Amino acid sequence: MLDVYDIIAKKRDGLTLCAEEIESFVNAFVRGEVPEYQMSAFLMAVYFSGMRDTETHALANAMAHSGDMLDLSELGELTVDKHSTGGVGDKTTLIVAPICRAAGLTVAKMSGRGLGHTGGTIDKLESIPGFKTNLSRSEFYDCVRKNGIVVAGQSANLAPADKKMYALRDATATVESIPLIAASIMSKKLAAGARSIVLDVKTGSGALMKSNVDARALAHQMVDIAHRANRRCMALVTDMSRPLGNHVGNSLEVLETISVLQGADADGDLAKLCVQLAGAMIHLAKGIPMEEALGVATDALESGKAYEAFRLLVASQGGDLHYVDDPEQLEVGGATHRILADRAGFVEDVNTESIGRVARVLGAGRIIPNAAIDYGAGIVFHKKSGDYVQKGDLIAVLYAKDEEHLSLGIKQSRDLFTVGDVCPPAPPLIHDCITADDLYDWD
Ligand code: URA
Repeated sequence: MLDVYDIIAKKRDGLTLCAEEIESFVNAFVRGEVPEYQMSAFLMAVYFSGMRDTETHALANAMAHSGDMLDLSELGELTVDKHSTGGVGDKTTLIVAPICRAAGLTVAKMSGRGLGHTGGTIDKLESIPGFKTNLSRSEFYDCVRKNGIVVAGQSANLAPADKKMYALRDATATVESIPLIAASIMSKKLAAGARSIVLDVKTGSGALMKSNVDARALAHQMVDIAHRANRRCMALVTDMSRPLGNHVGNSLEVLETISVLQGADADGDLAKLCVQLAGAMIHLAKGIPMEEALGVATDALESGKAYEAFRLLVASQGGDLHYVDDPEQLEVGGATHRILADRAGFVEDVNTESIGRVARVLGAGRIIPNAAIDYGAGIVFHKKSGDYVQKGDLIAVLYAKDEEHLSLGIKQSRDLFTVGDVCPPAPPLIHDCITADDLYDWD
């Protein structure tokens, strides 16, 4: 007999719950037998008392099994997935998924929409006219069986316990708990079925985890959950103290994606990070050494095979290829504002979350889940932190659909881009790599 009071009290007192207790509690909550006030008390108890690794795994597992568990076993051992904890200008899935497909992996990925200052893969893909992300289960399977690549929105019945619990966490100030975040993210990854999972855990001013210590702790817990669930997994802790790449905003990020897939800016932060993430996925799935996997990823990008895989992804999900072949046709905001350097010197570091907020008020993002967005809004950087500029040089351009949105963006970006005498130190692209056994040393 489930004693909900006892479970909450045990967690409040810092005791360890067993898997059966956690599973019964989550299942009873999903069935509506545990009221929201008791789940809220449990979440607050976890917030303060934390969880042991065995408990975090049991929570993720129970949440995953609360809905559909995708069975990708018929597709073999090379199924891969990735997750990013989110950031500003993070369009890596749009590049990494095609690289992996070109390298012979099977990419079956469910992604989310943007919220707050961060963007979402699904919004970016939907900025390509015709691109369908709302796939039925059979459409999802058909795409991946036929083409070896699919990127869709999360199905309604994927980890329903997470949806209910996240809504409560949002209302009870319990989102910022590392075990709850780890279980929430990994419940969806476990349910989505891929054998190998690479986690891109962002750290810095534009990330969910602002400190390296927290980002590492989250990465460890998620890798641990995956390994206990018998999935191959590694996490890269990557920098989000600066926006990734030069474009922020949905159509603008698709434009940048296409240019990177066509070979532009191969030494830029975006292309380099995508090769590392894809390399990690190839390494895990194929079991080849990391150095060799990085070579395979680089070749897939440089040879144009990844670009062809992106075209395949777009075409197979109904996207109009004219926009890929001629990306200048993509909708970009007609109202623009140029930000110029007011003196000579180095572009100083900018709070990346503030940049995400500027993009949001321009129309590129939302505060309320599923609210409409403006695909053409955003920011293009012509200079980034650490670049030297002369007075009058163009630093960035803001894009919005009309003057009203543009003026909001201008107001929020006032004093954001400053020029000083000291060149700010460049952060590393990858701060850390966490595997089950730390096989690969990034130094
Ligand atoms: N993303 C998720 O999916 N869950 C969290 O708890 C936080 C970020």
